[in-house]
Amino acid sequence: MTMISSASQVQLLQFFIRKLKCRNILEIGTYMGYGAFGMADVMAQGGKVTGIDIEPHFCDFVNKTARERNINVEVKQGSAITVLESLAKEGNKYDFIYVDCHKPDYCEYFKIIMNNGMLLPDGMMVCDNVLWHGRSIKRSDYFAECMDDFNTMVAADPRVTTTLLPCYDGLLLIQHNDNGE
Ligand SMILES: C[S@@+](CC[C@H](N)C(=O)[O-])C[C@H]1O[C@@H](n2cnc3c(N)ncnc32)[C@H](O)[C@@H]1O
Repeated sequence: MTMISSASQVQLLQFFIRKLKCRNILEIGTYMGYGAFGMADVMAQGGKVTGIDIEPHFCDFVNKTARERNINVEVKQGSAITVLESLAKEGNKYDFIYVDCHKPDYCEYFKIIMNNGMLLPDGMMVCDNVLWHGRSIKRSDYFAECMDDFNTMVAADPRVTTTLLPCYDGLLLIQHNDNGE
């Protein structure tokens, strides 16, 4: 199974980022930077993509490429939960968050982001793999259970409104409720 986001999926992210004129972008799970550089290509002027990845060699590759090409992408190395907690503590907030990381931790990522106001009021979160190859609904393996738990938890959260796009491996789109709850 390939880890890289598909070209058409990144085009969809770019569509949202252009439309919403996003400037502060967070990617949880960056791998070789395909999604990160794609998002950086269309972010608003002066913007930045902050990535998170646990693998030092992916982080080094992306950070070196970003420096060489003068692109404002920076990947922070570490477990996504730990890095997210420290970004929250520093008061970082984002208008676009792309979650494409360790499936059992999606609920925790969501809680850290929401409980610390890391998604700006007009911001948007996109979570990948929520259908888990069609298995999440049947809960037919451990990751499928994790994704079903995540979809159920987010759907029941009164602070947000969501829609699940049944394309690619399932994308859950999340935004704050209009009433700002
Ligand atoms: C599906 S790939 C990301 C693909 C990327 N978003 C793209 O557009 O090509 C998932 C990435 O999450 C990273 N990862 C897995 N578990 C992690 C964890 N607990 N904390 C941080 N990164 C993790 C992996 O090293 C891998 O690079």
